[in-house]
Amino acid sequence: MTVPSLGLYLRTSALDPGGPAAASIYELTLWMVWVFGGVFLIVMILLVLGSFGHPREIESETRESWFIIGGGIIFPTVILTGFLIYTLILTADLQLNSKGLPIRVTGHMWWWEVEYPELGIVTANEIYIPVGLPVKIELQSKDVIHSLWIPSLAGKMDLVPGHQNFMTFKASQPGIFWGQCAEYCGLAHGKMALQIVALENHKFQDWIRDRQKSLMDLKQTGLLKGQTAFHQLGCTECHTIRQRVATSMAQVGPDLSHIGSRLFLGAGAVANNKGNLMGWIINPQSLKPGNKMPQTYMSPEQLRDLTDYLMSLK
Ligand code: CUA
Repeated sequence: MTVPSLGLYLRTSALDPGGPAAASIYELTLWMVWVFGGVFLIVMILLVLGSFGHPREIESETRESWFIIGGGIIFPTVILTGFLIYTLILTADLQLNSKGLPIRVTGHMWWWEVEYPELGIVTANEIYIPVGLPVKIELQSKDVIHSLWIPSLAGKMDLVPGHQNFMTFKASQPGIFWGQCAEYCGLAHGKMALQIVALENHKFQDWIRDRQKSLMDLKQTGLLKGQTAFHQLGCTECHTIRQRVATSMAQVGPDLSHIGSRLFLGAGAVANNKGNLMGWIINPQSLKPGNKMPQTYMSPEQLRDLTDYLMSLK
């Protein structure tokens, strides 16, 4: 699937690695499939031979016991030790390259807060990264244990309350990589997804510039009315929109400073477009049951103005 607004392909599978970390894990997976598949086949053949083969003359006890020692102890020990060493080296390798653009990801029920501490950027449910350069993600949680899994870019790492974990990876090509919470964390766990958008470095620099500049002053009356509705309806209790006019720094719900440019709404629940956004605002529970956004009552005009205003925040 290609996302038209960015012209990038959406990659979701661990069998389609888009970076060195995912490629190493994919290689390990192939080794495990072939070696363990081979062992399974040998065991099945021996089982069939043992069950249906012709009864043979009783062989010497020494040969039987060597078969048991060799096939039952030495053979599995060698194979499993081999994989243990392979995995330990691979794990160390994935952690070793611990330098990279620092990004902090905080898990919430059921969305992802994303901060670039050195760049002063805060966003949600999307991580933009430059192609070919490593990023170092610091993982933490505000409530329960979550787990970040980006099958086509990296492995999986838990987000634990009161503890920091790290994950380093890089993307080899531009693309959109699907991430998913991989630790059951409550009702909307299945819809706690995020996207990692890997851009060529010059486009990533443009993205940073767009995020760092103050949002434009609102000239159009419709958008101004939407902004007023955002305050009057109490959206600021939970959401932040960073502007010249300081708003609250609420972090109960995702930062909405650039909501209009997001690919999805509700942490990957539905595509971001005007219709879905209206549907989300008027009945948040319909598109992602269990999420913490309460129902807000408003007039059709307020809904229209609010949606136009939010969609204008690119
Ligand atoms: Cu967060 Cu499952």
